[in-house]
Amino acid sequence: MKRIGVLTSGGDAPGMNAAIRAVTRTALYKGMEVVGIRRGYNGLLNLDVFDMNARSVSSIIQRGGTLLFTARCLEFKEEAGVLKAVENCHKLGIEGLVVIGGDGSYRGAGDLSRHGIPCIGLPGTIDNDISSTDFTIGYDTAMNTVVELVDKLRDTSHSHDRCSVVEVMGRGAGYIAVNTAVACGAVEVLCPEKPYDLNEIITKMQEGRKLGKQNFIIVVAEGIGHSAEIAKKIEQETGIESRATILGHVQRGGSPTVRDRVLASQMGNYAVNLLEQGIGNRVVGVRGNKLVDYDIQEALQMKKPFDDDLYDLTKIISI
Ligand code: ADP
Ligand code: F6P
Repeated sequence: MKRIGVLTSGGDAPGMNAAIRAVTRTALYKGMEVVGIRRGYNGLLNLDVFDMNARSVSSIIQRGGTLLFTARCLEFKEEAGVLKAVENCHKLGIEGLVVIGGDGSYRGAGDLSRHGIPCIGLPGTIDNDISSTDFTIGYDTAMNTVVELVDKLRDTSHSHDRCSVVEVMGRGAGYIAVNTAVACGAVEVLCPEKPYDLNEIITKMQEGRKLGKQNFIIVVAEGIGHSAEIAKKIEQETGIESRATILGHVQRGGSPTVRDRVLASQMGNYAVNLLEQGIGNRVVGVRGNKLVDYDIQEALQMKKPFDDDLYDLTKIISI
């Protein structure tokens, strides 16, 4: 393979730039040409592309967001869109493609592979909701951002003897919520994987207050939502002043952590090694401490286990 493309797709995640850099530099090292494709699959459909060199990825390893921009491209979900993208790959001389995104982006990469453009998917999302990898690029940074912000909330919450209900991202998954709940010393975590009973939480808070507990942090995954109503009900039932904070998109920004930079660099390099061998229709993941790759369709069928012990830990050590 002599000429490959790279794109980012779906929600951006810190570390995507480090992955783009690793793909580009590895490919150049191997004597391949690299085409940067802007705004996800849109760039393939609109021919919004540029040739990359080593300097195209200078000084981006430390930056959040994505140099290539990202988008959700509805046209590409249709067969006609995929066929147009394949035709444009031929036109541009793109023989293989690295797609950095979530499982929606993986489906698109599978479609292109089936039509003769070998693609490698890299897991880029803060949600960590990709079953074929233990960790996604961006997840660690997002969790560190949450912890930093919740620590700040705790300062004010503690001073006012209040309860902070904090809503964190994660789409339909509670990985960010459960991990940050433990890391922030939350009293409870509400996430889509587990049923919850607000009355039980209220009783627990009342008991905690009797034991002298001054402030309470409750982490709510966005898949549960309703943080404002939850805070209101807690205040009504316990008399403890409560405030809801939705952290929102700030969780997607910022300089990637060491862990995300290293993971993204390793995965970007691994993807190009696969393409170099003419291998496509694969996604890269990390299992334990080792990089692995799977068939895309097989990866999309996998189920990610939920850490029940970590979930229980919040309850055990919070009062
Ligand atoms: P993510 O990759 O983060 O899960 P999306 O689900 O929005 O984000 O997917 C990103 C893009 O991948 C979509 O805008 C679309 O272009 C492409 N895509 C998503 N689902 C499919 C699908 N079923 N078939 C083909 N392409 C898809
Ligand atoms: O997938 C990343 C993510 O930030 C989710 O946590 C969230 O549900 C979604 O994207 C938000 O998407 P948008 O940027 O379209 O509001």
